[in-house]
Amino acid sequence: MGPLQIKELLQQTPDAKSVTLKGWVRTKRESKNAIFIALNDGSTIHNIQAVAAPGQFSAELLLTVTTGSCLKITGQLVESQGSGQAVEVKIEDLHVYGTADPEAYPLQPKRHSLEFLREIAHLRPRTNTFGAILRIRHSLAFAVHQYFNEKRFFYLHTPIITASDAEGAGEMFRVTTLDLDKLPRTEEGAINFKEDFFGREANLTVSGQLEGELGAMALSKIYTFGPTFRAENSNTTRHLAEFWMIEPEMAFFELEDNMDLAEDFVKYVIRYALENCKDDLAFLENRLSEEDKNKPQNERSIPLLEKLSFVVDNPFERLTYTEAIDILLKSKPHKEKKFQYPVGWGIDLSSEHERYLVEKHFKKPVILTNYPREIKSFYMKLDDDGKTVRAMDVLFPGIGEIIGGSQREDNYEKLLERVHEVGIDPETIWWYLDTRKFGTAPHSGFGLGFERLVLFVTGMSNIRDVIPFPRYPKSAEF
Ligand code: 4AD
Ligand code: MG
Repeated sequence: MGPLQIKELLQQTPDAKSVTLKGWVRTKRESKNAIFIALNDGSTIHNIQAVAAPGQFSAELLLTVTTGSCLKITGQLVESQGSGQAVEVKIEDLHVYGTADPEAYPLQPKRHSLEFLREIAHLRPRTNTFGAILRIRHSLAFAVHQYFNEKRFFYLHTPIITASDAEGAGEMFRVTTLDLDKLPRTEEGAINFKEDFFGREANLTVSGQLEGELGAMALSKIYTFGPTFRAENSNTTRHLAEFWMIEPEMAFFELEDNMDLAEDFVKYVIRYALENCKDDLAFLENRLSEEDKNKPQNERSIPLLEKLSFVVDNPFERLTYTEAIDILLKSKPHKEKKFQYPVGWGIDLSSEHERYLVEKHFKKPVILTNYPREIKSFYMKLDDDGKTVRAMDVLFPGIGEIIGGSQREDNYEKLLERVHEVGIDPETIWWYLDTRKFGTAPHSGFGLGFERLVLFVTGMSNIRDVIPFPRYPKSAEF
């Protein structure tokens, strides 16, 4: 099935057998005695070196072998004469599928800025950095499915088009087929959504959780892994308008079980990357330490592999929101008025507060629980004190919130009260409320932002660089 990939070829013994290579040229170098072509097919960060003799091919053909051009090479796999690789290919036949005009091709063998690469997102997968990121992203996604399969969770496909707003934040993209120039109106003059495709208002989902809960009330343990959309106008290095979320939902899990699962799960997938993405992680670690060389000593980061191993090998710190507020109130930046936002019980923690707790105080991942009910979603289970809910957020160094979750309110009356309190029309989620009427059960779940995980594992600093084609305000080009 298809040609051998460069990853496989690089592992073979150089016994002069005939091989065929297909890939894109990274560099071409001509010396007096030979022409060297470094070829990459994306199967690995490493290139394979192919060597031709001067005069073996016409100058005309060689002119079309440029950085970015695509080749088919047939030749002998031999021991490499040079250092840096064990094997190389002695070219016998060379075919150019497509050349890339060096005057026009934007990727040249030099370091390009990440900002520039975002403008050519259609070509950036061909760089070492993005090749590494995309392979790691794949491995993490694979590990997610493997983990849940091993733990006997069922993958539930929740809808992408919904009529509800699970998080209640109103940050939804509308889905409609109405003609925006000729909107149908009701007698009162409002837009008549009865005439829209679904006969009602519809939007892209902000979370698969509500439908996930329906699955858990039948299959006990489910997870979703799908695209999620938020029309929040946040131009930060941590937010995307379209991101992927993994949402497990478990019947008979209380908050403590939920925390145990979240911690075990993220450690498992990070460990999987450490074991299966060694070359790509080593490349990214090296890239980061090169970048760090220009920074003052105290701003340099911990080497990537060390950082990942530390997270995998150490228990996360668990504390309540109330305890966290106490720590913040006693902290130096609070006393010296260095925090931009005020600290006090009831506030929604801002990222400077989260970063203080994780990066300065505990120096490790933190799970915060039992947040004030006012700042959390309607579906979270009320604590006995009536003031806090059984929420949990997992906070990571350099990332902030990576997971948000909770035990769910399983009592019908209490849930209905919250629904009214936050102003949701119960009619619109009658099916969700039904689960609390028919065989309700204690249950819990959480959502892991997949790109925030990839951001952490790759050590990149902008979430727009860990998804192939990022969507953010004013950007949906590719
Ligand atoms: O905390 P959030 O909003 O929680 C939920 O959506 C729940 N329904 C999850 C659940 O309990 N099943 O989002 C969960 C996670 C966040 O912790 C964050 O990692 C990520 O999703 N996230 C984003 N990632 C990228 N861009 C955005 N705009 C994000 N918003 C949330
Ligand atoms: Mg959250």
